[in-house]
Amino acid sequence: MCGIVGYVGPRQATPILVGGLRRLEYRGYDSAGLAVLDPTGHLEVSRSVGKLSALEQLLERQPLLGRVGIGHTRWATHGRPSEANAHPHRVGGVAVVHNGIIENYLDLKRRLQATGREFSSETDTEIVAHLVDEALNAGAPTLVEALRVALSQVVGAYALVVISERHPDEIVAAKNASPLVIGIGVGEMFLASDVPAMLEHTRDVIFLEEGEIAELRATGVKLSNLAGEPVTRASRRITWDAVQAEKNGYPHFMLKEIHEQPRAIADTLRGRLRLDTADAYLEGYEIDPRPLRRVVLVACGTSYHAGLVGKFMIESLARVPCEVDLASEFRYRDPVVGPNDLLIAISQSGETADTLAAVKEARARGGRVLAISNVVDSAIPRVSEGTVYTHAGPEIGVASTKCFTAQLAALALIAIHMGRRSGHLAAPEAAKLIAELAAIPTKMTTALTTLGDLADVAARYRDARDFLFLGRGTNFPIALEGALKLKEISYIHAEGYAAGEMKHGPIALVDDGVPVVVLAPRGPSYEKIISNLVQVRARNGRVIAVGTEGDQQLAEMAECVLFVPDVSPLLQPFMTVLPLQIMSYAIAVARGNDVDQPRNLAKSVTVE
Ligand code: F6R
Repeated sequence: MCGIVGYVGPRQATPILVGGLRRLEYRGYDSAGLAVLDPTGHLEVSRSVGKLSALEQLLERQPLLGRVGIGHTRWATHGRPSEANAHPHRVGGVAVVHNGIIENYLDLKRRLQATGREFSSETDTEIVAHLVDEALNAGAPTLVEALRVALSQVVGAYALVVISERHPDEIVAAKNASPLVIGIGVGEMFLASDVPAMLEHTRDVIFLEEGEIAELRATGVKLSNLAGEPVTRASRRITWDAVQAEKNGYPHFMLKEIHEQPRAIADTLRGRLRLDTADAYLEGYEIDPRPLRRVVLVACGTSYHAGLVGKFMIESLARVPCEVDLASEFRYRDPVVGPNDLLIAISQSGETADTLAAVKEARARGGRVLAISNVVDSAIPRVSEGTVYTHAGPEIGVASTKCFTAQLAALALIAIHMGRRSGHLAAPEAAKLIAELAAIPTKMTTALTTLGDLADVAARYRDARDFLFLGRGTNFPIALEGALKLKEISYIHAEGYAAGEMKHGPIALVDDGVPVVVLAPRGPSYEKIISNLVQVRARNGRVIAVGTEGDQQLAEMAECVLFVPDVSPLLQPFMTVLPLQIMSYAIAVARGNDVDQPRNLAKSVTVE
């Protein structure tokens, strides 16, 4: 999730663009840059790696003067953080900033290279600058027309913003899947990926919709669609304050991130699944499961719970034995690892000390290592053979939510990839699973809407002393994750258990002061988990059930029921974790806790 800003009007663009980028800082980024058209229509670009202050220092030494400009803070997805990979990307007299992913960038790059075009970055964005430049050279009469020609070749998610020396008094922008907002001033226009970037200049905004293109001039904005037909939409007045705006109107980053999950999953899957070959692709990394003795998934905390779900996915689809280990245990237990073992290290931050040490340990013993990370070029990807990046965007709330489900998506991709290559996953089954996986974001959106804020559930259970979470199969890791989420932000003691273990000890805890969350979606262990639920009820336990939409039997047995859409058991964690995240959040809010920065916790654990 990069940050984008743009300005056209009578004032100097640079301070407005830098101020806008500063307002988007909360998203986190690895590099930043500006492109400005000077009064003679000459394009100048400045970029630098690291904090915005580095770019500001550069601009002090070499000021960019002009009244039309665009800016960008980058959160790397293609190519490591570097000046060459920072936006804006310039080709000839064209500069482009982009948020999103161009799926067919390799095909387009090959085609452009065959025409003699050279590339100076590893990004997918530079392709668009070439395509617009190519269209202008081929005679496109306007910048918007050149952008349309470029977009007709592009597959993917984008918020794209373009300026050009040949059309020096305008900015053109297009949106597909990534957000873009236009700010309407008096004799000036603004543009940004997010409202806070422009709030000090205007509160009148137009949110671009999918497939729309905007032409911005100081005098106003013209909207059209990809086919060139005009679009009209009234502006909206923003009433949020600046802090609320950073959270997109949500009271906390955690809640915003919970609601970003459908987008995070869609972006993580984008371009990596193909229905025609019924296969999943890992950006150049090939896993041949046949010589593998086993897979070892290592991680900490929430990422470890994703690993536990990953074990189900890989064992069931690829039939390769899997172990899941806490990174802090793995590194110190003299692990048996050799060239036929594949270690999959899962880390949102890519820099957790124990996970990094586990990777180094495995590599030192000759093991193969694949990372799953949300931060491009972070420490763990750097010491791994390959990385499947999750495209969740920066996660700011300390309690991980969208990165967890994005990790599940990455693990599903790896499992399908391995299953197809091990010969255990036939094309028709793979195609069915791929279709179901592709539908997960929409089902998550439905679930988030129907679950609501769960404030009533929070009011009922906020004073509980302890909580138990029970699940079976793929929902056992979700029971662990539900307990962790509740503990870390509500400070209520909670334990997650495999439901079958309940009578081997934890049932002694059950009384009317201990709510028991039972994960009971329909599936192969439904009957078993229902009998666990009955046992809890028989001891006066208060049951909060998570079940499949329409399950009346379950609703009648539980004190409270939270429904999620029906999906196959392997993919249920994407759904069943949602009510647990929302419930933990709602209880923490009801208890007056600092949800985004819970006590004693840090977002990245870079020490042991
Ligand atoms: C819990 C949480 C932590 C992290 C853990 C690993 O909400 O966020 O348990 O999952 O510290 O962090 P990463 O994934 O960055 O290695």
